[in-house]
Amino acid sequence: MDQIIVRGGGALNGEIPITGAKNACLTLMPLTLLTDQPLTLTNAPRLSDIRTMTTLLQSLGSEVAPLQDGQVLAMSSHALTGVKAEYDIVRKMRASILVLGPLLARYGEAVVSLPGGCAIGARPVDLHLRALEALGAQLELRDGYVWAKAPSGGLKGADFTFPLVSVGATENAVMAAVLAKGTSILRNVAREPEIVDLVHCLRRMGAQIEGEGSSTLTIEGVTALTGATHPVVTDRIELGTYMLAPAICGGEVECLGGRIDLVASFCEKLDEAGVDVIETARGLKVARKNGRIRAVDVVTEPFPGFPTDLQAQMMALMCTAEGTSVLEETIFENRFMHAPELARMGARIEVHGGHATVHGVEKLRGAPVMATDLRASVSLILAGLAAEGETVVSRVYHLDRGYEKVVRKLRGVGAEIERIKEDSQHE
Ligand code: EPZ
Repeated sequence: MDQIIVRGGGALNGEIPITGAKNACLTLMPLTLLTDQPLTLTNAPRLSDIRTMTTLLQSLGSEVAPLQDGQVLAMSSHALTGVKAEYDIVRKMRASILVLGPLLARYGEAVVSLPGGCAIGARPVDLHLRALEALGAQLELRDGYVWAKAPSGGLKGADFTFPLVSVGATENAVMAAVLAKGTSILRNVAREPEIVDLVHCLRRMGAQIEGEGSSTLTIEGVTALTGATHPVVTDRIELGTYMLAPAICGGEVECLGGRIDLVASFCEKLDEAGVDVIETARGLKVARKNGRIRAVDVVTEPFPGFPTDLQAQMMALMCTAEGTSVLEETIFENRFMHAPELARMGARIEVHGGHATVHGVEKLRGAPVMATDLRASVSLILAGLAAEGETVVSRVYHLDRGYEKVVRKLRGVGAEIERIKEDSQHE
């Protein structure tokens, strides 16, 4: 398995281009199932998760052509060959469950493998299923699959309140409701920018939806949707991740394509910690204010609160902050696996249930560490950038799921970082 070697060094200076959002693209791609016309996504990220979703859609009979080295995804589903999402693909990426709603809405049936849990938690899909049942779907769980059928007349609009805010369940419900008969009111929905982007793309396809970005979506079902061309929204998690690089190492980095509205609560915490964020014509320019980073407390929440997907990276910053910070993880039950790896680098962290208390130290020391999940892996790289000596991160395949060209992007601002291929060729 590949490794990434980071040598702690000085300040970082320059520009980092921010890519299209993985978590937007993974819900936009299944939209091809809702129409027999061509759907093209631009600004798509080149990631292994996108390739997995491509394989899944192709297994259903969709045509998905990655153009321009994968930055453009030209898709067409005018002749599906099946409605079954096989376990072998779904187990690789839980977002595969997002084909359930579209298949039900357009074809009236779907057989989708239950995704199972992952490293950060059990990740059930009960809310997805309850929302689809509210729209009239008949569901049966059998042999590890969801067997779903719509009534003979198709799905029907419903007034449904989510008992818990869920990004994926909101996405599945929206993609089912847009072709249901009548009006749907979905309450206590997720408000993430990826949901807003999904609604914007659906509107381009002729869907009638109001309320994106708020807690309630009102959807008038239509009989058919057209194709469209849509740019994937900027990845706010990649943006936040790279904003932390100059915060941890010093220097000044401009994140090209960054937008304050995507990371507002995160920027408030950076300001508290002593990091300046300035909006420029090309993105967001980030630099430490004078002096040492200050410890701040963080509670992860659904958008617009502090994103759980930036918790691990923020912990890396807090490791060398002045004072003690408490990070509370309220979204997932096991999302502190980066803590023991950071401790190997000299960080002082106590984890009790959903709380991690970080006592800042002057400097971290490089060490061999292991990536455990996507966001934990990048927090180890951030820590290594500021540590004394060399950090070797193993199991970096986690990174390839969500970060395009991380070595090149960080080298571009002066980081000493390289990727050692399994057969020990230096990249
Ligand atoms: C999406 O996951 C993202 N993934 C996650 O990003 C992100 O961390 C998460 O939203 C929260 O923002 C994609 O968009 C592909 P949820 P999702 O449903 O939709 C519980 C990354 O690193 N829940 O909002 O699976 C669930 O267990 C990934 O890019 C149920 O109980 O998240 C969790 O505790 C990690 N029943 C909470 O809700 C359900 O039916 C929020 O999960 C669904 C969810």
